[in-house]
Amino acid sequence: MHILLFGASGHVGTGLARLLSPHHTVTGIVRQRPTTETAYEPLIVPDWVDEPEAVTSALASAGRPPVDAVIAAIGGWYIDEPVLDRGLGKFDADYDSYLRGHFTACALSQSLATERSEAVGSSTERSTGQVSGRSTDAGPDSTRFVHLALNGVASVEALAGSGAISVFGAAQKMLIEVAAAESTTVDFRELRIMAPIGGDDRNDLTGGVDTVPLVQVAEAITPILYSPERFDVSMEIHATAETSDG
Ligand SMILES: NC(=O)c1ccc[n+]([C@@H]2O[C@H](COP(=O)([O-])OP(=O)(O)OC[C@H]3O[C@@H](n4cnc5c(N)ncnc54)[C@H](OP(=O)(O)O)[C@@H]3O)[C@@H](O)[C@H]2O)c1
Repeated sequence: MHILLFGASGHVGTGLARLLSPHHTVTGIVRQRPTTETAYEPLIVPDWVDEPEAVTSALASAGRPPVDAVIAAIGGWYIDEPVLDRGLGKFDADYDSYLRGHFTACALSQSLATERSEAVGSSTERSTGQVSGRSTDAGPDSTRFVHLALNGVASVEALAGSGAISVFGAAQKMLIEVAAAESTTVDFRELRIMAPIGGDDRNDLTGGVDTVPLVQVAEAITPILYSPERFDVSMEIHATAETSDG
C-alpha cells in the first residue's frame, strides 16, 4: 500500500513511518527538508496547506505510485496559558496548525482518490478489457480510498492549558464526520488517541499516567486502512489497548 503521510516530521508521524514502512511504501509531506534519515520518503512542500496542488505535482515529479491511503497526523501538543489569555494571534496560529491542515489533507484525499480510481481502472481495463472491480492481491480494496485523521483526548474533553487544541480538535472531529457523510469517493475515518503517546517528552507523565505505545497506534491503524467499512467513522484507542466506537 502506498501511504501518504501528513505530519511526517512530528512525533507520531516519524514513529508511525518507522513502524509502517517495512510493510508499506510511505511518502511523507514535510514543510522542511529533514535533517536526519527518515523511514518515509520525504517530499518537501513548504506551503502544502495553502497550495495543495503542489503536493500532487511533487508526487508526479517524484514518480511516486498512486496513493492508496492518507494518514493525517497534523497538529501537536502544548500546555500554556488559558486560551483567552494567549490572544487571537496564537489562536489563529493554532487554527493554522490544526484545522486548516486537516481541511487541506481531506481535500487532497478527494482528488487523489479520483486519480487512483482512474489509474486502477485503466490498468484493469488494459489487463482484462473490463472496468475495475476488487483488487485480487492482498492490498487494499481497489474501489476504496481511506483518509485516516488522528486526534487526541483534547477534542472531546476541555483540557485547561490546551484550550485551542480542544476547540480545533472538536472541530476536526466534526470536519471528518461531515466529509464522511458527504464523500462518495473517500472513506474518511478518525482515530482519537485517548492518552499520551509513549516516548513524547512533551507529555507530563507525573504520577504514573498510562500511555499508548506507538506500536499500538500502528496496529489500530492497519486494519482501518485495509477494511474501512468494518469501522465507524469515529473511533478511540485507549491506554488499555481497547479500540471502541465513539
Ligand atoms: N503526541 C501525543 O502524545 C499524542 C497523543 C494523542 C494524540 N496525538 C495526535 O497525533 C497527531 C500528531 O501529534 P504529534 O504529537 O506527532 O505532533 P507534533 O510532534 O507536534 O507534530 C505535528 C506535525 O504537524 C505539522 N504541522 C504543525 N503545524 C502545521 C502547519 N501550520 N502547517 C502544516 N503542518 C503543520 C508539523 O509539521 P512541521 O514539522 O512542518 O511543523 C508536524 O509534522 C495529532 O493529531 C495529535 O492530536 C498525539
